[in-house]
Amino acid sequence: MTPNDPLLVDCDTGIDDALALLYLLGTPGIDVRAITTVFGNTSANTAAANTLRVLDLAGRPDIPTAVGAGSSLRGTARFAPHVHGDDGLGNTGLPAPALAPTTEPAAELIVRLARENPGRLHLLAIGPLTNLATAMLLDPELPDLVGHVTIMGGAVDHPGNVTPAAEANIANDPEAAQLVLRADWDVTLVPLDVTMTELLTEEHRLRLLAANAPTPRFAARILAHYLDVYQRNVFGAPRAACHDPLAAAIAVGEVSPVVAPIVPVDVDTSDGPGRGRTIADSSTEEGSGVRVVLRTDGTFPDRLVQRLGGAPSRTLDIA
Ligand code: BDR
Ligand code: CA
Repeated sequence: MTPNDPLLVDCDTGIDDALALLYLLGTPGIDVRAITTVFGNTSANTAAANTLRVLDLAGRPDIPTAVGAGSSLRGTARFAPHVHGDDGLGNTGLPAPALAPTTEPAAELIVRLARENPGRLHLLAIGPLTNLATAMLLDPELPDLVGHVTIMGGAVDHPGNVTPAAEANIANDPEAAQLVLRADWDVTLVPLDVTMTELLTEEHRLRLLAANAPTPRFAARILAHYLDVYQRNVFGAPRAACHDPLAAAIAVGEVSPVVAPIVPVDVDTSDGPGRGRTIADSSTEEGSGVRVVLRTDGTFPDRLVQRLGGAPSRTLDIA
């Protein structure tokens, strides 16, 4: 995306979504025009409340937040309190947000902004793809109107994180993901293959804590929960995947992919064990389809912590 192009973030605001939003809001020159929420890590309403808390913290009450789909196109919904806490923000027990969401539904807002900014709107989707699919069903011309779509989701040559085959954002609504990934628009997919290689650590949390300002301290608080979950369930050490912030940084061009072939991608919508799997067809001649980010240089979490206001590492006495 070029500077000045409007960005719409569609999210299921849990911990890494909140970090991604704070990163974008702290990046000069990024026009976050609107935020839409979807079920996933939590309900769409809780995701909106969490988004409004983040906007308040970042001093950006002017950015509209619209509530979107509460369940998948098939009407199913499951949340992830075991990862993001009951409140989606690591059980931080924050007060109700002072701001309120807009009355305009998410899918209508997506269509309106696409029509108001033909060829310029960038959609960053870091939750299940139900809102994007609903917007496409509402306005079939949407793919022609949108400039670019960046999606955190999928697992190509990597195991899934909710089933052996499927990553959470795709698994939550495979039919929506299939519609979005089959449509004729410019899409960048940021799957687990790369988000599981860019890791936040305990050192990063300590740097955020040491900064002693509201944004880094909030980030340190929610990151504490995330590191703990990943330590217990994934890495056996205090390290956590940087899923949504990495997708945000790729969307705004601050991280350049090292390996990112453009290949057709489809989604398994069967009811079998493969449901939700993303299948990237690398046998097809590269050049048409979805840009699938398979490798970055691994240095983004450091930059993320810096952007969130974390103290420089040399000021800390970390054994
Ligand atoms: C994705 O699922 C959610 O838990 C995260 O916020 C991220 O968008 C990772 O699989
Ligand atoms: Ca998310």
